[in-house]
Amino acid sequence: MAKRPPSEPRAYDVIVIGSGAAGLTAALNLAPNLRVAVLAKGDIGAGSTAWAQGGIAAVLEPGDTVEAHVEDTMVAGAGLNHRATVELVARGAAAAIDRLADLGVAFNPGETVSERWHLTREGGHSHRRIVHVDDATGWAVQQTLQKAAASHPNIDLVPGMVAIDLITERHVTGERFAARGCHGVYALDTADRHVHRFTAKAVVLATGGASRVYLYSTNPDGSTGDGIAMAWRAGCRVSNMEFNQFHPTCLFHPKVKNFLITEAARGEGGHLKLPNGERFMQRYDERLELAPRDIVARAIDAEMKRLGVSHVLLDIAQLGADFVRQHFPTIHARLLDLGIDCTREPIPVVPAAHYSCGGVMVDLDGRTDLAGLWAAGEVTQSGLHGANRLASNSLLECLVFGQAVADDITRQWNTLAPPPTVRAWDESRVTDSDEEVVVTHNWDELRRFMWDYVGIVRTNKRLERASHRVKLLRKEVADYYGNFRVTPDLIELRNLVTVADLIVRSARARKESRGLHFTSDYPRTAEVARDTVLDPVMVRS
Ligand code: FAD
Ligand code: SIN
Repeated sequence: MAKRPPSEPRAYDVIVIGSGAAGLTAALNLAPNLRVAVLAKGDIGAGSTAWAQGGIAAVLEPGDTVEAHVEDTMVAGAGLNHRATVELVARGAAAAIDRLADLGVAFNPGETVSERWHLTREGGHSHRRIVHVDDATGWAVQQTLQKAAASHPNIDLVPGMVAIDLITERHVTGERFAARGCHGVYALDTADRHVHRFTAKAVVLATGGASRVYLYSTNPDGSTGDGIAMAWRAGCRVSNMEFNQFHPTCLFHPKVKNFLITEAARGEGGHLKLPNGERFMQRYDERLELAPRDIVARAIDAEMKRLGVSHVLLDIAQLGADFVRQHFPTIHARLLDLGIDCTREPIPVVPAAHYSCGGVMVDLDGRTDLAGLWAAGEVTQSGLHGANRLASNSLLECLVFGQAVADDITRQWNTLAPPPTVRAWDESRVTDSDEEVVVTHNWDELRRFMWDYVGIVRTNKRLERASHRVKLLRKEVADYYGNFRVTPDLIELRNLVTVADLIVRSARARKESRGLHFTSDYPRTAEVARDTVLDPVMVRS
């Protein structure tokens, strides 16, 4: 795409912000009828999708049922899920897998003639129902979707374009324009360092999650909750932000901070052990290593605290060297590079922040509170995951909602208002920063106190401490943002502070323990499950 000066808006039919499974699915389903730009803040393939290991949950064999998938999702979600969403997604799974296979994703074939695909097992699933491409499913999905999007004449892929804020009424020139809605996005081009205007009748947020708000995370660097923060600033409600999923088994290694060891390793028979070799999950749940993630992560956290150790062990050596090499080739090779032979010795693991169950509220068509703005994927709270996401339901949500959003926009197209004239980005009152250290210092501080005070086990006191610190940081970052020219790091820090604030507020509002939100001050689960909904109109300070 030819570069244009920032003074001229770039007009499309639809702007999709985010190029993971959700964004690319939406774009590919819009493109037969509409011109679409897909923005990514780094490389097109740099989101969480490419990092997904285990696979995608779907009912594909006669012994399994959609009802069982729905029930497993609701049990893992501790009853907070919205049944209509869960049913929509579980029912849409088989067709979503067929579409990916038709596009070229080479899922592992079944091992008997009656199985089309090989299905692996993960925690919380009552059946084997995870289709996968070895232990690197996300990579295959991302490459396939990306290739299809890159070759589509109606899709422009725009890497290196960091969305800053959604364009709403306050950015519109002229008094006569009154409709309340979203008309595009301001984005910083990391190549020319200018802020560009992208305008469209419809905008789709598909910016992924916010797990990098924590010090230790399985996620790539870009998971900083930008979409959640942008939607919040633009006037959308967000919900269930207190439900941050910690994956039980992230590699513990001095040099490598965010390498996941897939849940399928436990699904296929891997054992969690203490440093002395003893198994411990029998003390926590009868489902042992295959209990839902919140239970396994809390058990590991409790054992680490009880013994004062830095990690526990995941042993897959007893599965046999051939089986390990065949089923987990990526993990096996990566660990060998680090000097760990997992066919012979256990893998040191710790829980790490993995997935944001909360996010921008959407309905079954992916509509947000703002006309002209849709959202899909990890950035949303669709009602699917409830208080704890079931393993391998996330890529599935991206595929089903990416398509639902595209269908809804296409259906509504003729009723959508064309974008008005939008002001250029105003840089007249800012200068280049002379103190980048403020950004790096605040970034580190934020992620550390979120880890220490808003982690796997919470208390009123810790949340209060976190709340004080968020308040100070919000002020400091707002001052800095008001005075200095934006950079990618500053944009992310500003969003991380907003997300941290939303998490802490939501955690303080929930006076019970449910799913991923466990607080020693309210250890019981309330009889009635209620979403925590934050409304920007109600939250002022
Ligand atoms: P992402 O794939 O994260 O993409 C986000 C996109 O938004 C990126 O293109 C990014 O550049 C863009 N973006 C973000 N902010 C901005 C901005 N300000 N401006 C412009 N662009 C922006 N789920 C499963 O179902 N099965 C699994 O096996 C599985 N394994 C996982 C393993 C790991 C290590 C991780 C980290 C996650 C795993 N998950 C798994 C979760 C799943 O991968 C993610 O939830 C899912 O891929 C999210 O997809 P998405 O399209 O919503 O966002
Ligand atoms: C994994 O492979 O363990 C990750 C699966 C998921 O996050 O759904």
